[in-house]
Amino acid sequence: MSLNRKKIIDESQKWLDIISSKKLSEHTRRQIVSETLDNFEGYYNKGFLEYRKSVTESDGFAAVEWNGSGSYFMDVLGRKYLDLLGGFGIYSAGIRHPKIVKAVRDQLKRMSLSSQELLDPLRGALSEILGEISPGDLQYCFFINNGTDAVEGAMKLARLYTGKSGFISFIKGFHGKSYGSLSLMGKAEFRAPFEPLLQDVYFVPYGDANAVEQELQRAKMVGFDIAGVMVEPVQGEAGAIVPPDDFFPKLRKICDRYGVLLIADEVQTCLGRTGKLFGVNHWDVAPDIMCLGKALGGGVMPLSAFMSTPKIWKVLEPNPFIHSSTFGGNPLACAAGIAAINVTLNENLPDKAAKSGKYLIGELKKIQKENEDFLIDVRGLGLLIGLEFIDSEFGYAIAAGLFKRGILVAGTLLNSKTIRIEPALNISKKSLDYFLEVFRQTIKSVKKGW
Ligand SMILES: Cc1ncc(COP(=O)(O)O)c(C=O)c1O
Repeated sequence: MSLNRKKIIDESQKWLDIISSKKLSEHTRRQIVSETLDNFEGYYNKGFLEYRKSVTESDGFAAVEWNGSGSYFMDVLGRKYLDLLGGFGIYSAGIRHPKIVKAVRDQLKRMSLSSQELLDPLRGALSEILGEISPGDLQYCFFINNGTDAVEGAMKLARLYTGKSGFISFIKGFHGKSYGSLSLMGKAEFRAPFEPLLQDVYFVPYGDANAVEQELQRAKMVGFDIAGVMVEPVQGEAGAIVPPDDFFPKLRKICDRYGVLLIADEVQTCLGRTGKLFGVNHWDVAPDIMCLGKALGGGVMPLSAFMSTPKIWKVLEPNPFIHSSTFGGNPLACAAGIAAINVTLNENLPDKAAKSGKYLIGELKKIQKENEDFLIDVRGLGLLIGLEFIDSEFGYAIAAGLFKRGILVAGTLLNSKTIRIEPALNISKKSLDYFLEVFRQTIKSVKKGW
Protein backbone atom coordinates (compact mmCIF):
# COMPACT_ATOMS: atom_id res chain seq x y z
CA MET A 1 0.00 0.00 0.00
CA SER A 2 1.35 3.40 -0.87
CA LEU A 3 1.65 5.87 1.98
CA ASN A 4 -0.91 8.64 1.94
CA ARG A 5 0.62 10.79 4.64
CA LYS A 6 -2.21 13.27 5.03
CA LYS A 7 -4.85 10.55 5.15
CA ILE A 8 -3.04 8.66 7.90
CA ILE A 9 -2.41 11.78 9.96
CA ASP A 10 -6.11 12.71 9.69
CA GLU A 11 -7.26 9.18 10.46
CA SER A 12 -5.00 8.83 13.49
CA GLN A 13 -6.01 12.33 14.69
CA LYS A 14 -9.66 11.34 14.41
CA TRP A 15 -9.03 8.40 16.76
CA LEU A 16 -6.97 10.53 19.13
CA ASP A 17 -9.91 12.94 19.33
CA ILE A 18 -12.26 10.04 20.03
CA ILE A 19 -9.94 8.75 22.76
CA SER A 20 -9.82 12.12 24.49
CA SER A 21 -13.44 13.03 23.90
CA LYS A 22 -15.65 13.31 27.01
CA LYS A 23 -18.91 13.03 25.10
CA LEU A 24 -19.56 11.31 21.78
CA SER A 25 -22.51 12.04 19.51
CA GLU A 26 -24.87 9.20 18.61
CA HIS A 27 -23.58 9.45 15.04
CA THR A 28 -19.95 9.00 16.14
CA ARG A 29 -20.89 6.05 18.36
CA ARG A 30 -22.56 4.25 15.46
CA GLN A 31 -19.64 5.12 13.24
CA ILE A 32 -17.27 3.54 15.77
CA VAL A 33 -19.31 0.31 15.62
CA SER A 34 -19.29 0.13 11.84
CA GLU A 35 -15.62 1.11 11.51
CA THR A 36 -14.61 -1.44 14.14
CA LEU A 37 -16.42 -4.16 12.19
CA ASP A 38 -14.79 -3.03 8.94
CA ASN A 39 -11.35 -2.82 10.53
CA PHE A 40 -11.60 -6.29 12.07
CA GLU A 41 -12.80 -7.66 8.75
CA GLY A 42 -10.26 -5.88 6.57
CA TYR A 43 -7.20 -5.60 8.75
CA TYR A 44 -7.35 -7.77 11.86
CA ASN A 45 -9.08 -11.13 11.54
CA LYS A 46 -12.53 -11.80 10.11
CA GLY A 47 -12.75 -14.98 12.18
CA PHE A 48 -13.42 -13.01 15.35
CA LEU A 49 -16.57 -11.57 13.84
CA GLU A 50 -18.04 -14.98 13.18
CA TYR A 51 -17.35 -16.70 16.44
CA ARG A 52 -18.08 -14.06 19.07
CA LYS A 53 -21.42 -13.69 20.79
CA SER A 54 -20.74 -9.94 21.22
CA VAL A 55 -21.01 -9.68 17.45
CA THR A 56 -23.49 -12.36 16.50
CA GLU A 57 -25.95 -11.93 19.36
CA SER A 58 -26.34 -8.22 19.99
CA ASP A 59 -29.71 -7.18 18.66
CA GLY A 60 -28.46 -5.86 15.36
CA PHE A 61 -25.46 -3.91 16.61
CA ALA A 62 -22.14 -5.51 17.51
CA ALA A 63 -21.07 -4.82 21.09
CA VAL A 64 -17.93 -2.70 20.88
CA GLU A 65 -16.53 -2.35 24.35
CA TRP A 66 -16.01 1.18 25.57
CA ASN A 67 -15.83 1.78 29.29
CA GLY A 68 -16.14 -0.10 32.54
CA SER A 69 -15.63 -0.15 36.25
CA GLY A 70 -15.95 -2.78 38.96
CA SER A 71 -18.15 -5.60 37.70
CA TYR A 72 -19.81 -3.66 34.89
CA PHE A 73 -18.84 -2.47 31.46
CA MET A 74 -20.63 -0.59 28.71
CA ASP A 75 -20.42 -0.86 24.97
CA VAL A 76 -20.02 2.22 22.80
CA LEU A 77 -23.78 2.40 22.25
CA GLY A 78 -24.31 2.65 26.01
CA ARG A 79 -25.57 -0.89 26.66
CA LYS A 80 -24.56 -2.12 30.11
CA TYR A 81 -23.22 -5.60 30.89
CA LEU A 82 -22.57 -7.44 34.12
CA ASP A 83 -19.10 -8.95 33.83
CA LEU A 84 -19.04 -12.58 34.93
CA LEU A 85 -15.98 -13.36 32.80
CA GLY A 86 -13.47 -10.95 34.32
CA GLY A 87 -11.26 -11.00 31.21
CA PHE A 88 -10.56 -14.73 31.91
CA GLY A 89 -9.13 -13.84 35.29
CA ILE A 90 -7.46 -10.47 34.82
CA TYR A 91 -10.14 -8.43 36.61
CA SER A 92 -9.87 -10.02 40.05
CA ALA A 93 -9.94 -6.55 41.62
CA GLY A 94 -12.67 -5.45 39.18
CA ILE A 95 -12.33 -3.25 36.12
CA ARG A 96 -10.25 -0.10 36.72
CA HIS A 97 -9.93 -0.40 40.48
CA PRO A 98 -9.34 3.25 41.54
CA LYS A 99 -6.29 2.52 43.70
CA ILE A 100 -4.60 0.56 40.91
CA VAL A 101 -5.46 3.15 38.25
CA LYS A 102 -4.11 5.91 40.52
CA ALA A 103 -0.81 4.10 41.07
CA VAL A 104 -0.28 3.72 37.32
CA ARG A 105 -1.35 7.29 36.57
CA ASP A 106 0.94 8.70 39.28
CA GLN A 107 3.87 6.64 38.02
CA LEU A 108 3.17 7.74 34.43
CA LYS A 109 3.69 11.35 35.47
CA ARG A 110 7.20 10.43 36.65
CA MET A 111 8.56 7.77 34.26
CA SER A 112 6.85 5.45 31.78
CA LEU A 113 9.27 2.70 30.74
CA SER A 114 12.69 2.08 32.18
CA SER A 115 16.07 3.22 30.85
CA GLN A 116 17.17 -0.45 30.79
CA GLU A 117 20.40 0.61 32.47
CA LEU A 118 19.72 2.28 35.82
CA LEU A 119 18.20 0.36 38.72
CA ASP A 120 14.44 0.90 38.85
CA PRO A 121 13.00 0.92 42.36
CA LEU A 122 9.54 -0.48 41.63
CA ARG A 123 10.95 -3.66 40.09
CA GLY A 124 12.87 -4.25 43.31
CA ALA A 125 9.89 -3.33 45.50
CA LEU A 126 7.49 -5.66 43.70
CA SER A 127 10.05 -8.49 43.86
CA GLU A 128 10.36 -8.04 47.60
CA ILE A 129 6.60 -7.96 48.14
CA LEU A 130 6.11 -11.09 46.01
CA GLY A 131 8.97 -12.80 47.81
CA GLU A 132 7.24 -12.06 51.13
CA ILE A 133 3.82 -13.41 50.14
CA SER A 134 4.86 -16.47 48.12
CA PRO A 135 4.86 -20.02 49.43
CA GLY A 136 7.95 -21.77 50.82
CA ASP A 137 11.35 -20.44 49.80
CA LEU A 138 10.19 -18.74 46.60
CA GLN A 139 11.97 -15.41 46.75
CA TYR A 140 13.44 -14.23 43.45
CA CYS A 141 11.37 -12.87 40.55
CA PHE A 142 11.67 -12.05 36.88
CA PHE A 143 8.98 -9.92 35.26
CA ILE A 144 7.49 -10.10 31.79
CA ASN A 145 4.14 -9.25 30.21
CA ASN A 146 2.16 -12.42 29.43
CA GLY A 147 1.49 -15.76 31.03
CA THR A 148 3.23 -17.54 28.20
CA ASP A 149 6.40 -15.48 28.82
CA ALA A 150 6.36 -16.60 32.45
CA VAL A 151 6.10 -20.24 31.38
CA GLU A 152 8.93 -19.85 28.84
CA GLY A 153 11.18 -18.40 31.55
CA ALA A 154 10.24 -21.14 33.99
CA MET A 155 11.08 -23.82 31.42
CA LYS A 156 14.47 -22.27 30.67
CA LEU A 157 15.26 -21.92 34.36
CA ALA A 158 14.30 -25.55 35.02
CA ARG A 159 16.54 -26.74 32.20
CA LEU A 160 19.42 -24.53 33.26
CA TYR A 161 19.26 -25.58 36.90
CA THR A 162 18.76 -29.32 36.41
CA GLY A 163 20.83 -29.70 33.25
CA LYS A 164 17.98 -31.90 32.01
CA SER A 165 15.62 -31.26 29.12
CA GLY A 166 12.29 -33.08 29.48
CA PHE A 167 8.99 -32.02 31.03
CA ILE A 168 5.89 -33.76 32.26
CA SER A 169 2.65 -31.95 31.56
CA PHE A 170 -1.03 -32.81 31.80
CA ILE A 171 -3.77 -33.70 29.36
CA LYS A 172 -5.93 -30.59 28.71
CA GLY A 173 -3.32 -28.42 30.44
CA PHE A 174 -2.94 -24.85 29.15
CA HIS A 175 0.24 -22.81 29.57
CA GLY A 176 0.25 -20.38 26.65
CA LYS A 177 0.77 -20.39 22.90
CA SER A 178 4.41 -19.53 22.25
CA TYR A 179 6.62 -22.43 21.16
CA GLY A 180 7.90 -23.62 24.54
CA SER A 181 4.63 -23.24 26.40
CA LEU A 182 2.71 -24.67 23.42
CA SER A 183 4.88 -27.76 23.74
CA LEU A 184 3.35 -28.28 27.19
CA MET A 185 -0.18 -27.76 25.86
CA GLY A 186 -2.43 -30.76 26.47
CA LYS A 187 -4.96 -29.88 23.75
CA ALA A 188 -4.54 -31.18 20.20
CA GLU A 189 -6.46 -28.39 18.48
CA PHE A 190 -3.85 -25.79 19.42
CA ARG A 191 -0.67 -27.83 19.08
CA ALA A 192 -1.25 -30.19 16.16
CA PRO A 193 -0.88 -27.53 13.40
CA PHE A 194 2.55 -26.54 14.77
CA GLU A 195 4.17 -29.92 15.32
CA PRO A 196 6.93 -30.84 15.77
CA LEU A 197 7.16 -28.90 19.01
CA LEU A 198 9.64 -29.73 21.80
CA GLN A 199 9.98 -33.49 21.64
CA ASP A 200 10.65 -34.53 25.22
CA VAL A 201 7.32 -33.67 26.81
CA TYR A 202 5.20 -36.44 28.32
CA PHE A 203 1.50 -36.08 29.07
CA VAL A 204 -0.41 -37.72 31.90
CA PRO A 205 -4.01 -37.41 33.14
CA TYR A 206 -4.56 -34.36 35.37
CA GLY A 207 -4.97 -35.11 39.06
CA ASP A 208 -3.23 -38.50 38.81
CA ALA A 209 -0.01 -38.37 40.85
CA ASN A 210 0.64 -42.09 40.32
CA ALA A 211 0.68 -41.54 36.56
CA VAL A 212 3.37 -38.89 37.04
CA GLU A 213 5.44 -41.34 39.07
CA GLN A 214 5.04 -44.06 36.44
CA GLU A 215 6.17 -41.66 33.73
CA LEU A 216 9.22 -40.69 35.78
CA GLN A 217 10.05 -44.37 36.37
CA ARG A 218 9.78 -45.08 32.65
CA ALA A 219 11.97 -42.05 31.86
CA LYS A 220 14.58 -43.25 34.35
CA MET A 221 14.61 -46.77 32.91
CA VAL A 222 15.10 -45.63 29.34
CA GLY A 223 17.43 -42.75 30.17
CA PHE A 224 15.21 -39.71 29.43
CA ASP A 225 16.08 -36.71 31.56
CA ILE A 226 13.13 -34.85 33.08
CA ALA A 227 13.70 -31.31 34.32
CA GLY A 228 10.28 -30.52 35.73
CA VAL A 229 6.57 -31.16 36.09
CA MET A 230 4.44 -28.21 34.90
CA VAL A 231 1.04 -28.10 36.52
CA GLU A 232 -1.92 -25.78 37.10
CA PRO A 233 -3.36 -25.78 40.64
CA VAL A 234 -6.81 -25.83 39.03
CA GLN A 235 -7.00 -26.44 35.30
CA GLY A 236 -8.53 -23.19 34.04
CA GLU A 237 -8.83 -23.39 30.26
CA ALA A 238 -9.83 -27.03 30.55
CA GLY A 239 -12.96 -25.83 32.35
CA ALA A 240 -12.13 -25.30 36.05
CA ILE A 241 -11.00 -28.84 36.86
CA VAL A 242 -10.09 -29.19 40.54
CA PRO A 243 -7.60 -31.98 41.39
CA PRO A 244 -8.13 -34.43 44.26
CA ASP A 245 -6.91 -33.12 47.63
CA ASP A 246 -3.96 -35.50 47.83
CA PHE A 247 -2.69 -34.67 44.32
CA PHE A 248 -0.38 -31.76 45.10
CA PRO A 249 1.10 -33.18 48.35
CA LYS A 250 1.83 -36.45 46.48
CA LEU A 251 3.27 -34.60 43.51
CA ARG A 252 5.60 -32.64 45.80
CA LYS A 253 6.96 -35.87 47.30
CA ILE A 254 7.33 -37.56 43.92
CA CYS A 255 9.22 -34.60 42.45
CA ASP A 256 11.60 -34.63 45.43
CA ARG A 257 12.11 -38.37 45.14
CA TYR A 258 13.02 -38.19 41.45
CA GLY A 259 14.97 -34.93 41.62
CA VAL A 260 12.69 -33.00 39.25
CA LEU A 261 11.32 -29.51 39.80
CA LEU A 262 7.68 -28.88 40.61
CA ILE A 263 6.55 -25.88 38.55
CA ALA A 264 3.17 -24.37 39.45
CA ASP A 265 1.50 -22.42 36.69
CA GLU A 266 -0.48 -19.90 38.76
CA VAL A 267 -1.07 -17.57 35.83
CA GLN A 268 -4.83 -17.91 36.20
CA THR A 269 -5.08 -18.86 39.87
CA CYS A 270 -2.83 -16.26 41.51
CA LEU A 271 -3.93 -13.41 43.78
CA GLY A 272 -6.98 -15.01 45.30
CA ARG A 273 -8.93 -16.39 42.33
CA THR A 274 -9.49 -19.82 43.94
CA GLY A 275 -10.13 -18.52 47.45
CA LYS A 276 -6.50 -18.53 48.64
CA LEU A 277 -3.76 -16.09 47.66
CA PHE A 278 -2.15 -18.81 45.50
CA GLY A 279 -3.80 -22.03 44.34
CA VAL A 280 -1.10 -24.23 45.89
CA ASN A 281 -1.91 -22.71 49.31
CA HIS A 282 -4.98 -24.96 49.41
CA TRP A 283 -2.69 -27.93 49.92
CA ASP A 284 0.22 -26.21 51.72
CA VAL A 285 2.59 -27.14 48.95
CA ALA A 286 5.52 -24.97 47.89
CA PRO A 287 6.61 -25.38 44.27
CA ASP A 288 10.22 -24.93 43.11
CA ILE A 289 9.18 -22.47 40.41
CA MET A 290 5.94 -20.52 40.19
CA CYS A 291 4.47 -18.65 37.19
CA LEU A 292 2.18 -15.67 37.74
CA GLY A 293 0.17 -13.48 35.37
CA LYS A 294 -3.30 -12.15 34.56
CA ALA A 295 -4.56 -10.59 37.86
CA LEU A 296 -0.99 -9.70 38.86
CA GLY A 297 -1.31 -6.50 36.79
CA GLY A 298 -4.45 -5.53 38.69
CA GLY A 299 -6.54 -5.51 35.52
CA VAL A 300 -4.81 -2.30 34.50
CA MET A 301 -1.39 -3.29 33.09
CA PRO A 302 -0.02 -6.45 31.48
CA LEU A 303 2.31 -8.09 34.02
CA SER A 304 3.54 -11.61 34.60
CA ALA A 305 6.40 -13.17 36.53
CA PHE A 306 8.22 -16.37 37.29
CA MET A 307 9.72 -16.94 40.69
CA SER A 308 12.04 -19.42 42.30
CA THR A 309 14.17 -20.12 45.34
CA PRO A 310 17.62 -18.60 46.05
CA LYS A 311 19.21 -22.02 45.47
CA ILE A 312 17.75 -22.42 41.99
CA TRP A 313 18.04 -18.73 41.03
CA LYS A 314 21.82 -18.88 41.54
CA VAL A 315 22.18 -20.32 38.02
CA LEU A 316 20.97 -16.99 36.61
CA GLU A 317 23.60 -14.96 38.46
CA PRO A 318 26.74 -15.59 36.35
CA ASN A 319 25.04 -14.08 33.31
CA PRO A 320 21.93 -12.15 34.41
CA PHE A 321 21.25 -11.30 30.76
CA ILE A 322 20.84 -14.95 29.81
CA HIS A 323 17.11 -14.23 29.97
CA SER A 324 15.88 -10.67 29.43
CA SER A 325 12.90 -8.63 28.27
CA THR A 326 12.69 -5.04 27.04
CA PHE A 327 9.32 -4.23 28.56
CA GLY A 328 9.18 -6.81 31.35
CA GLY A 329 9.02 -5.24 34.81
CA ASN A 330 8.53 -1.72 33.49
CA PRO A 331 7.61 0.91 36.11
CA LEU A 332 3.98 1.21 35.04
CA ALA A 333 3.41 -2.54 35.25
CA CYS A 334 5.24 -2.78 38.58
CA ALA A 335 3.18 0.11 40.00
CA ALA A 336 0.07 -1.82 38.97
CA GLY A 337 1.44 -5.04 40.51
CA ILE A 338 2.25 -3.36 43.83
CA ALA A 339 -1.22 -1.79 43.93
CA ALA A 340 -2.88 -5.09 42.93
CA ILE A 341 -1.27 -6.93 45.85
CA ASN A 342 -2.13 -4.07 48.22
CA VAL A 343 -5.79 -4.19 47.15
CA THR A 344 -5.90 -8.01 47.23
CA LEU A 345 -4.75 -8.10 50.86
CA ASN A 346 -6.39 -4.88 52.05
CA GLU A 347 -9.80 -5.90 50.70
CA ASN A 348 -9.46 -9.58 51.62
CA LEU A 349 -10.14 -10.62 48.04
CA PRO A 350 -9.14 -14.28 48.54
CA ASP A 351 -11.65 -14.65 51.40
CA LYS A 352 -14.31 -12.92 49.34
CA ALA A 353 -13.62 -15.32 46.45
CA ALA A 354 -13.89 -18.31 48.80
CA LYS A 355 -17.20 -17.12 50.26
CA SER A 356 -18.80 -16.00 46.98
CA GLY A 357 -17.49 -19.09 45.18
CA LYS A 358 -19.02 -21.43 47.74
CA TYR A 359 -22.36 -19.64 47.49
CA LEU A 360 -22.34 -19.47 43.69
CA ILE A 361 -21.30 -23.09 43.16
CA GLY A 362 -23.99 -24.20 45.66
CA GLU A 363 -26.71 -22.23 43.85
CA LEU A 364 -25.51 -23.34 40.40
CA LYS A 365 -25.65 -26.95 41.53
CA LYS A 366 -29.31 -26.41 42.43
CA ILE A 367 -29.91 -25.14 38.88
CA GLN A 368 -28.04 -28.17 37.59
CA LYS A 369 -30.39 -30.49 39.49
CA GLU A 370 -33.36 -28.78 37.85
CA ASN A 371 -31.72 -29.12 34.39
CA GLU A 372 -29.70 -32.34 34.59
CA ASP A 373 -30.46 -33.22 30.99
CA PHE A 374 -28.67 -30.08 29.73
CA LEU A 375 -26.27 -28.88 32.43
CA ILE A 376 -24.18 -31.92 33.24
CA ASP A 377 -21.60 -30.54 35.68
CA VAL A 378 -20.89 -27.53 37.88
CA ARG A 379 -17.39 -27.41 39.35
CA GLY A 380 -14.66 -25.09 40.49
CA LEU A 381 -12.80 -23.57 43.39
CA GLY A 382 -13.37 -20.05 44.67
CA LEU A 383 -14.45 -17.92 41.72
CA LEU A 384 -12.92 -20.10 39.01
CA ILE A 385 -16.05 -21.96 37.98
CA GLY A 386 -16.94 -24.18 35.02
CA LEU A 387 -20.42 -25.04 33.75
CA GLU A 388 -20.42 -28.11 31.52
CA PHE A 389 -23.32 -28.53 29.10
CA ILE A 390 -24.39 -31.48 26.99
CA ASP A 391 -22.61 -30.06 23.96
CA SER A 392 -20.92 -26.97 22.61
CA GLU A 393 -24.03 -25.79 20.69
CA PHE A 394 -26.17 -25.75 23.80
CA GLY A 395 -23.39 -24.03 25.79
CA TYR A 396 -23.05 -21.36 23.11
CA ALA A 397 -26.80 -20.78 23.04
CA ILE A 398 -26.64 -20.20 26.83
CA ALA A 399 -23.60 -17.88 26.62
CA ALA A 400 -25.22 -15.94 23.78
CA GLY A 401 -28.58 -15.85 25.58
CA LEU A 402 -26.93 -14.46 28.70
CA PHE A 403 -25.13 -11.85 26.62
CA LYS A 404 -28.41 -10.77 25.01
CA ARG A 405 -29.72 -10.27 28.53
CA GLY A 406 -26.70 -8.17 29.54
CA ILE A 407 -24.42 -10.73 31.19
CA LEU A 408 -20.98 -11.69 29.90
CA VAL A 409 -19.55 -15.18 30.48
CA ALA A 410 -16.92 -17.08 28.46
CA GLY A 411 -17.88 -19.26 25.53
CA THR A 412 -17.36 -18.91 21.80
CA LEU A 413 -19.12 -20.55 18.91
CA LEU A 414 -16.14 -22.93 18.57
CA ASN A 415 -15.82 -23.95 22.18
CA SER A 416 -18.73 -23.71 24.59
CA LYS A 417 -19.27 -27.19 25.97
CA THR A 418 -17.87 -25.84 29.21
CA ILE A 419 -18.25 -22.14 29.88
CA ARG A 420 -16.27 -20.35 32.55
CA ILE A 421 -17.44 -17.95 35.19
CA GLU A 422 -14.63 -15.76 36.57
CA PRO A 423 -16.09 -12.56 38.00
CA ALA A 424 -14.26 -9.92 40.00
CA LEU A 425 -13.51 -11.33 43.45
CA ASN A 426 -15.35 -8.41 45.08
CA ILE A 427 -18.55 -8.88 43.06
CA SER A 428 -21.62 -8.18 45.21
CA LYS A 429 -24.07 -10.85 46.34
CA LYS A 430 -26.80 -8.82 44.63
CA SER A 431 -25.01 -9.16 41.28
CA LEU A 432 -24.49 -12.89 41.81
CA ASP A 433 -28.20 -13.34 42.59
CA TYR A 434 -29.10 -11.33 39.51
CA PHE A 435 -26.87 -13.58 37.40
CA LEU A 436 -28.46 -16.72 38.89
CA GLU A 437 -31.94 -15.43 38.11
CA VAL A 438 -31.04 -14.56 34.52
CA PHE A 439 -29.21 -17.88 34.09
CA ARG A 440 -32.37 -19.74 35.16
CA GLN A 441 -34.47 -17.73 32.68
CA THR A 442 -31.95 -18.28 29.90
CA ILE A 443 -31.80 -22.05 30.34
CA LYS A 444 -35.58 -22.18 30.36
CA SER A 445 -35.85 -20.18 27.17
CA VAL A 446 -33.06 -22.03 25.32
CA LYS A 447 -34.47 -25.43 26.34
CA LYS A 448 -37.84 -24.53 24.85
CA GLY A 449 -36.42 -24.27 21.37
CA TRP A 450 -34.05 -27.26 21.69
C1 LIG B 1 -2.63 -21.40 33.41
C2 LIG B 1 -2.26 -20.49 32.27
N1 LIG B 1 -0.98 -20.38 31.91
C3 LIG B 1 -0.60 -19.58 30.90
C4 LIG B 1 -1.52 -18.85 30.19
C5 LIG B 1 -1.08 -17.96 29.06
O1 LIG B 1 -1.22 -16.64 29.42
P1 LIG B 1 -1.15 -15.48 28.31
O2 LIG B 1 -2.38 -15.61 27.47
O3 LIG B 1 -1.13 -14.21 29.12
O4 LIG B 1 0.10 -15.69 27.55
C6 LIG B 1 -2.86 -18.93 30.54
C7 LIG B 1 -3.88 -18.16 29.78
O5 LIG B 1 -5.06 -18.36 29.87
C8 LIG B 1 -3.26 -19.76 31.60
O6 LIG B 1 -4.54 -19.89 31.96
